[in-house]
Amino acid sequence: PSSVSGRLSSTPDQMPLYRRLLGTGEGFGVRLSYRVQAKPLGLPDAFRVGASFVGREPVCLALGDNVMFGPSLAKTLARAARMDEGARIFARRVPDARPFGTVAFDARGRARRLVEKPAAKGPGDAVPGLYFFGPDVVALARRLTPSARGELEIMDLLRAYLERGALAVDRLASDIAWFDMGTPDSLLDAARAVRDRERKRGAKVGWPDAIGWRQVWLSAAA
Ligand code: G1P
Repeated sequence: PSSVSGRLSSTPDQMPLYRRLLGTGEGFGVRLSYRVQAKPLGLPDAFRVGASFVGREPVCLALGDNVMFGPSLAKTLARAARMDEGARIFARRVPDARPFGTVAFDARGRARRLVEKPAAKGPGDAVPGLYFFGPDVVALARRLTPSARGELEIMDLLRAYLERGALAVDRLASDIAWFDMGTPDSLLDAARAVRDRERKRGAKVGWPDAIGWRQVWLSAAA
């Protein structure tokens, strides 16, 4: 593509930090717009707050505290972004699935059940915070009602797709590292993994300027 655009929703206090870090996106050859989520009403609220961002195009929701990197990630994202309807998510086997949304499969490997933060300790297939949706996501998000904790739940939104037979789940390839950085410990794990990868390869991980250059969103004149 000759240009790409991204949209970011955040809380009122954190928004200035994102703006300061990323600006208009011009430095990386992309266009960024921002919208504030006034209250923490859950992940699907992004599609209410940002309804005008979606319009008639498919959309990707990426959680700011998730980090992914690895050789096949770019190809995986490009393939997922080519969808134009339904929802596409990823699954990664983890030893303890309690901190995550999880997906269970039937004997034929089809997604059968979605559970947010299972109570029982043990292994499971976690759903990383990276979701692809067709433009109908805005209408489906508007139909959701808050859960017992008073938030719209991403698993309820995904369940709406599962019930229509429109949820695709791909296992995350083993060469892709995924971290949720929601706790000090997991933030440290992610930082260490990025450092190790950079030392090994002698190149930056997820460096926006370099990615913009490689994807030809930037020209030598920029
Ligand atoms: C959120 C989602 C959960 C998902 C996780 C990924 O949980 O609700 O389904 O698996 O992100 O990081 P949170 O980290 O906000 O508790």
